[in-house]
Amino acid sequence: MIKKDGTYVVMGLLNTDSIAYATGKKIEELGGNVIYTVQSERMKKVFFDRGCPDLPKETKDAMTIKYCDVTSEDEVRNLFNDIGDIDGLVHSIAFANPKTCLGNQMHTSSFEDVKLGFHISCVSLSTVAQYAQEHMPNGGSIVTISFASQLAFPFYNWMGVNKAALEALVRALARELGREHVRVNAISAGPLATKAAKSIPHFAHLAQTWKRISPLPWDAVNDKGEVAKSVIFLLGDYSTKITGQTLYVDGGASVVGGELLKHEKPLKTMPMKKKEARERLKRMQARQNK
Ligand SMILES: NC(=O)c1ccc[n+]([C@@H]2O[C@H](COP(=O)([O-])OP(=O)(O)OC[C@H]3O[C@@H](n4cnc5c(N)ncnc54)[C@H](O)[C@@H]3O)[C@@H](O)[C@H]2O)c1
Repeated sequence: MIKKDGTYVVMGLLNTDSIAYATGKKIEELGGNVIYTVQSERMKKVFFDRGCPDLPKETKDAMTIKYCDVTSEDEVRNLFNDIGDIDGLVHSIAFANPKTCLGNQMHTSSFEDVKLGFHISCVSLSTVAQYAQEHMPNGGSIVTISFASQLAFPFYNWMGVNKAALEALVRALARELGREHVRVNAISAGPLATKAAKSIPHFAHLAQTWKRISPLPWDAVNDKGEVAKSVIFLLGDYSTKITGQTLYVDGGASVVGGELLKHEKPLKTMPMKKKEARERLKRMQARQNK
């Protein structure tokens, strides 16, 4: 799946809760080398001082972390010039000022904030893709992370617009970079408890919503690794003819109309208890038919 000893750039590390961290860890488990990026030199210090309290010293020492603010074309260019050839790239980056871009109204009072959010959350994928592809002589794969852009969620406001634009950009870049044998795709993940997510007002409500609409059990705290596995799929050689797509890794919430009925909700236990569960369902249906 992941190229053994291949080099993968994973952008968007903040702390060990970041989707970037879960993804990098998975790449390393599968034999790839990871170069993480944080936003600034200061954020690298923040990661080591406060962002990874549970990591043993050897693990920290073994991590390669560079910094790159994706709004600076110079920093993006320098990053890829420093790194050399790579096999894949993960863009796990977004920002929106919660006060002006994520409120209970679609504010337009701070257009500068709206523009900055668009630059970081969408346009930056194009900047990094342009420079990254020059360092993919054997082709490669670029994956970004989106969220449910087909629906309007409360408070997600301008970030929802940015995610819709990001998915459109994925298609445009897939068209452009296919000639270089570079694939570009997005994962649309369900809600996960990270720093970025916590800045969304009423994020807890969103996570609760998933419990009501996701046919598969969804755990906002522990499912980052599951999302990371799908990023690996799109990075690796089991998806070589897939490009320009948004793959939903959201427990199935995106295809469900309305809330799940009581008998449709995911079982709390694993299928070992299937027989028991089937009998429980039969009893419930029998009661409903009375
Ligand atoms: N957490 C969720 O519920 C969820 C769901 C779907 C999609 N996503 C997306 O996943 C991606 C990763 O977010 P996360 O949830 O892991 O949160 P996170 O806060 O851990 O990661 C966001 C990263 O973006 C970086 N960033 C912001 N501005 C930057 C800039 N100018 N230059 C470089 N980096 C910058 C931050 O430093 C941080 O590392 C985001 O695109 C987010 O929208 C998150």
